[in-house]
Amino acid sequence: MIAMRSEDEMIAYALETHTALLPYLPELLADLEELGGNAEAITSVLDDLNLTKSTTVVDLGCGKGAVAVKVAQGLNLNVLGIDLFEPFIESCKELAERQDVSGLCHFIHGDILKLLGKIEPRDVAIFAALGDVLGPLDQTVSVIRQYVKPGGYMVISDGFIKDGGSSDFPGFEQYAEHTDMIARLTACGDTLVREVIVADIIDRGEDEMIATRAKVIAARRPEIADEILTYAEMQAAEYEYIDKNFVSAIWVLKRSL
Ligand SMILES: C[S@@+](CC[C@H](N)C(=O)[O-])C[C@H]1O[C@@H](n2cnc3c(N)ncnc32)[C@H](O)[C@@H]1O
Repeated sequence: MIAMRSEDEMIAYALETHTALLPYLPELLADLEELGGNAEAITSVLDDLNLTKSTTVVDLGCGKGAVAVKVAQGLNLNVLGIDLFEPFIESCKELAERQDVSGLCHFIHGDILKLLGKIEPRDVAIFAALGDVLGPLDQTVSVIRQYVKPGGYMVISDGFIKDGGSSDFPGFEQYAEHTDMIARLTACGDTLVREVIVADIIDRGEDEMIATRAKVIAARRPEIADEILTYAEMQAAEYEYIDKNFVSAIWVLKRSL
């Protein structure tokens, strides 16, 4: 069963915060384009699939558009980005314009659960850094695969717990070690065609940028200062946690017929 969360709760969960902080997220994350997905690595993985020029791509939970725009720019492909947080859709459009790929990118505001069956399946679906917002990985794949034509590809940027590592960190409780995660990934009968381990996921600069923004907002809005500063601290703690306990991976699944 898919986790029952409201739309705001899904956005907040995927961005590791509370709904009360949603109005501040555009400012808190203003210095970041990528929100977890590694645009360059995902584009390179897609490039290796030798896709034709007519390949269509959907980026599910595209955030601020970093991955969608990079794929459009690097591979000259048409990309549809979908995200539930409306302010990010504006950022996506601005980014596509700045990078001169507005003609290749289209962005819509919406919930990937509610849009199921309403969007024509693409050749490739990207699902980058949304974690388990839709539930455990097998449930997540059961949603993603509905956005992909039979025989098409799902590119999932997520990861697994290191051997002997801990899943005892908020948002990681449902994660498991490699064998279990691969079993969940392929539970719908799709074929894992590639696994890329992403070693350089930790960008030490990002948590500092968030912390700097948090201090500015906290000074301006004392009534929410504690929550904002705690968010920044949790982001830094998560980087530490990931570094010690988590392996980031990009998986390419070929949808069964
Ligand atoms: C951590 S961000 C990752 C964004 C982007 N994929 C990237 O790597 O930069 C997760 C995104 O998922 C979006 N999201 C969460 N639940 C969603 C849903 N049900 N439908 C569409 N977008 C969703 C959030 O709004 C957020 O922008």
